[in-house]
Amino acid sequence: MSSFKGPRGTQDILPGEVEKWQYVESALTDLCYRYNYKEIRTPVFEHTELFQRGVGDSTDIVQKEMYTFTDRGDRSLTLRPEGTASVVRSFVQNKIYGSPNQPTKLFYSGPMFRYERPQQGRMRQFVQFGVEALGSDDPAIDAEVIALAMNAYKELGLSSLKLVLNSLGDKKSRSRHRQALVEHFQPYKEELCEDCQSRLATNPMRVLDCKKDREHESMHTAPSILDYLNDESRAYFEAVKSILDRMGIEYEIDPNLVRGLDYYNHTAFEIMSNAKGFGAITTLSGGGRYNGLVEEVGGPATPGIGFALSIERLLMALEAEGITLPIEDKLECYVVSLGEEAEQEAAAIVYQLRQAGIQVDKDYAGKKMKAQFKAADRLNAHYVLVLGEDELTNGQINVKNMETGEQETIALSTIVEHMKRELKGDA
Ligand code: HAM
Repeated sequence: MSSFKGPRGTQDILPGEVEKWQYVESALTDLCYRYNYKEIRTPVFEHTELFQRGVGDSTDIVQKEMYTFTDRGDRSLTLRPEGTASVVRSFVQNKIYGSPNQPTKLFYSGPMFRYERPQQGRMRQFVQFGVEALGSDDPAIDAEVIALAMNAYKELGLSSLKLVLNSLGDKKSRSRHRQALVEHFQPYKEELCEDCQSRLATNPMRVLDCKKDREHESMHTAPSILDYLNDESRAYFEAVKSILDRMGIEYEIDPNLVRGLDYYNHTAFEIMSNAKGFGAITTLSGGGRYNGLVEEVGGPATPGIGFALSIERLLMALEAEGITLPIEDKLECYVVSLGEEAEQEAAAIVYQLRQAGIQVDKDYAGKKMKAQFKAADRLNAHYVLVLGEDELTNGQINVKNMETGEQETIALSTIVEHMKRELKGDA
């Protein structure tokens, strides 16, 4: 008999683990509302061209990592590799830029897909939680997005964090830097890896991000973008840093932080974990400003900034720092019954209790009474309700508080009210 395995780079999130996801996702959602970001949900697939244009033709994501397919109507579609391009597409398509409430502050969460080589913290399907603020080029909004990202981790108890910051400048600064990079790397071209050789022609900044050539001498002497920022870009970067300073958010400047997507300009940042045992990939999240993207996708010139984190890496960081989330595995009630008629009555009681908002379960395996008690114990039931043949005949039910050991017998007709009082403090 053959058996199936999930595709490489995907995972099942099972009960016991899924509660951590729910906890973290709910904490992140609360945090976004606190910062006045509203949720947006976009489709999991888009027209391939959106990512080619948005994320950029010369990026690894578009060149090597997309799950692209042709549908039955002969359209080229792609499972989203990230969320920003889709949010911007929706912002333009739905004319959200016309709303009087600007900037538009959005958050999203959902699966993303990249055909990467799977390893710990690098999946082919992973969940990103991200925010995008569209319509403001106030440096304070850059600081707000960075603050939100840091806040997310701190709120969950992480402390071994490093915020790395850079400015990629505006178009003019970048094109001067690009020229300088090409001139700098040209003499070493033959010594660099194949990818870098082609990057030198298509996207020279990405050479700085090469994992293979990281130690090549030319990397250490490469011209820094920060020396090529024009006055406007420099002033913008200074303002962002100054607000972060006032917020008391520490950062490190790394002129080689270039990010893997084409749409960035000005502020770029990543948050890394310093925790021992976190693993080879230390980046927890990344983001930055993308002032040309809305136009690229067909909308009016609108500045934007955002970031995204993956829940997988967030959970890895929590584990590396030994943080356990306050997740309770509890059941409010378990109904134990003995005899066929009592069992039928128990099924009805369970239904009534559930309708009254009480979390309750019973046995469905014909277990003996002792085994039912054991099950209640394993499920961490707060109350066990016992309905035996005698109780049924007398119209009663026994209620045992498993935390205090107290027991009482009450009228069956009052059980719902009784349990509401016990558990919710109301009648
Ligand atoms: P990114 O740096 O490509 O940026 O991804 C953001 C985060 O997603 C990474 O820092 C990492 O935590 C997570 N991530 C990426 N690939 C994987 C993977 N294969 N497995 C697990 N986690 C992964 C973006 O996607 C931008 N859209 C972020 C952004 C939003 N910029 C502006 N707004």
